[in-house]
Amino acid sequence: MSDTETKTQTSVTLRPYELTDADRLAVLLNDPDVTEMTSSIPYPYARSDAEAFLSNVRNEEGREVSRAILLEGELVGGVGFKARASDDEELGYWVGKPYWGRGITSVAVAAFIVELDRLGIEGPIHAQTVASNIPSQRVLLKNGFRFVGDGECITPARSTAKKASKRFVLDR
Ligand SMILES: CC(C)(COP(=O)(O)OP(=O)(O)OC[C@H]1O[C@@H](n2cnc3c(N)ncnc32)[C@H](O)[C@@H]1OP(=O)(O)O)[C@@H](O)C(=O)NCCC(=O)NCCS
Repeated sequence: MSDTETKTQTSVTLRPYELTDADRLAVLLNDPDVTEMTSSIPYPYARSDAEAFLSNVRNEEGREVSRAILLEGELVGGVGFKARASDDEELGYWVGKPYWGRGITSVAVAAFIVELDRLGIEGPIHAQTVASNIPSQRVLLKNGFRFVGDGECITPARSTAKKASKRFVLDR
């Protein structure tokens, strides 16, 4: 691994969201290229959407955890876990477009799994991506997830039509 790669990896950290993150979220998430692959983030994304999200995450408890992804202390994305009855899409993540392709999400997901361990959240973690979302699938595979089958999902930011998906699980 080169010095540059080492530096990138060590500068990625996670922290709980703060109410003051609203402006930054509204800038990074008001981007259809970021939201169109997600199962719950709307587009357009207004400051009021960020404020509603931030007030909800402050009430999280039990098997729901959200964390901001920081690069050298600056918020660049988010990662979250929510146990769901459907056993799909428990893990979600995004990174602002200017920060894509630097390995940030791969490192952030690894750190997030350690955080779930630390919080005592045990058991398999399920994830689902749009079938064409190869970067997201790479993030999962690099973190030890295995492909479990094809499925269908909805990504409401762009349309309510069902899309082909790929389903993954991390056995733990
Ligand atoms: C998916 C997403 C989180 C990836 O974030 P990222 O920080 O750029 O991801 P990383 O840099 O850690 O890794 C991306 C991997 O995909 C690969 N990749 C990127 N574009 C690719 C492409 N067009 N074809 C194949 N692989 C590609 C990268 O090479 C890397 O794999 P590698 O390390 O084996 O080379 C980011 O693109 C994003 O926020 N997208 C919108 C939201 C989203 O899709 N969320 C996930 C919903 S399931």
